[in-house]
Amino acid sequence: MRNIEYAVEMTDVCKNYGLVQANKDINLKVVKGEIHAIVGENGAGKTTLTNILYGMITPSSGSVAINGQPVRIPSPKAAIALGIGMVHQHFKLVPNFTVAENICLGHEPIKSLRRVDKKRMLEHTREISERYGLVVEPEKRVRDLSVGLLQRVEILKALSRGAEILILDEPTAVLTPLECRDLFKVLRGMSGQGKTVLLITHKLKEVMEVSHHITVLRRGITMGTLETSDTDERRLAGLMMGKEADFVPLEKKPRREDKTAFLIRGLQVRDNFNIVKLKGISLEVMAGEILTVAGVEGNGQTELVEALMGFARIEAGQVLVDGEDIARRNARGRRERCSFIPEDRMKTGLNLDGSVHDNLIAGRQRSPEIKRGPFFDYRKSSRLAEDLVRKFNIKTAGLDIEVSSLSGGNQQKIVVAREMSFGNKVLVVAQPSRGVDIGATNFIHEQLTAARNAGCAILLISTDLDEVYALSDRIQVLFDGEIVGSFTPDSLSQQEIGLYMTGVNRCSATPEDAARPTAAPNKDSGGCEAAHEDIP
Ligand SMILES: Nc1ncnc2c1ncn2[C@@H]1O[C@H](COP(=O)(O)OP(=O)(O)OP(=O)(O)O)[C@@H](O)[C@H]1O
Ligand SMILES: [Mg+2]
Repeated sequence: MRNIEYAVEMTDVCKNYGLVQANKDINLKVVKGEIHAIVGENGAGKTTLTNILYGMITPSSGSVAINGQPVRIPSPKAAIALGIGMVHQHFKLVPNFTVAENICLGHEPIKSLRRVDKKRMLEHTREISERYGLVVEPEKRVRDLSVGLLQRVEILKALSRGAEILILDEPTAVLTPLECRDLFKVLRGMSGQGKTVLLITHKLKEVMEVSHHITVLRRGITMGTLETSDTDERRLAGLMMGKEADFVPLEKKPRREDKTAFLIRGLQVRDNFNIVKLKGISLEVMAGEILTVAGVEGNGQTELVEALMGFARIEAGQVLVDGEDIARRNARGRRERCSFIPEDRMKTGLNLDGSVHDNLIAGRQRSPEIKRGPFFDYRKSSRLAEDLVRKFNIKTAGLDIEVSSLSGGNQQKIVVAREMSFGNKVLVVAQPSRGVDIGATNFIHEQLTAARNAGCAILLISTDLDEVYALSDRIQVLFDGEIVGSFTPDSLSQQEIGLYMTGVNRCSATPEDAARPTAAPNKDSGGCEAAHEDIP
């Protein structure tokens, strides 16, 4: 029998944070050259385990062997020297450096007088980007990249340091189906070249598609390692949650009234380079409707949400909530009329140094809900925060814990819980289920549907087509700063909509036409409702 070579062996690994046991006697064996998935609910201990392997965290006990050799990994530097690379759940790039500078950071090519050889740095970046089929612009500053592109840079950075074992912590959470396919091609290519990939993801469909083996963690314990060809999504979900996954289908009630609650008219926004990112788009959301802006990351979605929140300047256009132009208000004023769940919750949604309590009640400081007369009432605010923790199943050791010590998915849930609890009639929601586990995704989808049924107007921005199709009443596709198609979920398949998302197809509708919600989709026209309907 062939001797199995293990690239990674972790034996009886434990990690405690005070009373929290993030990893309990975890055993993980990863076959060399394989794609090995690690799955588990939010807070199960996946990031902790892989951070131990990358030398970011010292385990409380247990041992690690790389390629059969027992090792100590006291730092990421030691991990890199052992051929281990990691792409983190939250990126760790230097925003003011260029793509090439980030990729070469720590091993910059040097020319005479110890100066950095910029030409070789650019050449190296281009060479490695071509070798792995991951296209980047080497001279662009990282602070101006979309999340999808940031991830590409992170992967290239690890590969450029000679990683033989690559850990990816939720790499597909930020990618479109198309980008996922490309990433999987890259990962399969790496596996074909004998490199080992450790992949953490919440998307079981992807796990089934791309991995060779799967290890399931639950509450810090290894539930087992399965051969992918021997299992299915249902069994995995059952192992992860400790019970049969049993999700009730979303129930959408008919819309009660025909009232425009949220209207965006001719919105034009530029990015930091003065490039027009939104070319006068118009969107109309009815009360009791979920309108989704779908599209490949980088086509204006980020600018749309930032402009609506008041973080990017609106050059032209109006944002009307119940007829009032909120674009004239400051960020705080806007939030009184409209709730926002931003895409990058680390940057704009959370105060990472603040406690769970403070983050959950942020924005309510002036509200009578948490005041007694003119004074802040901690008992009231704690009760409110506790309620949200319970309702949204946020895994935290207490309300006073710093948000930064929560698992990634639980941090996401804090923003979702807070914003959904304001009771605003208009909600702008970007990538709501990014990074949260299947149970929580389902819960968030139920909450959004319930808000819609209760008459909220929801503008959803999502790159996850499963989510788009599950939630939307109507879908509009954003490509290169313009709305290029307007559909209902049943009028067009995910594959077909992909052609609009990549700019291959487009409807000839004017932006004003595309904004209209009333027309029924026309199947004969390829589902593009605005192009052929004569809207009164
Ligand atoms: N620095 C820390 N201080 C205290 N507790 C921590 C710290 N880091 C992680 N934990 C706790 O350890 C547990 C495991 O967290 P971990 O980040 O490994 O989960 P995860 O499986 O990666 O979850 P997610 O899917 O949400 O990213 C959680 O209960 C978390 O709150
Ligand atoms: Mg994690």
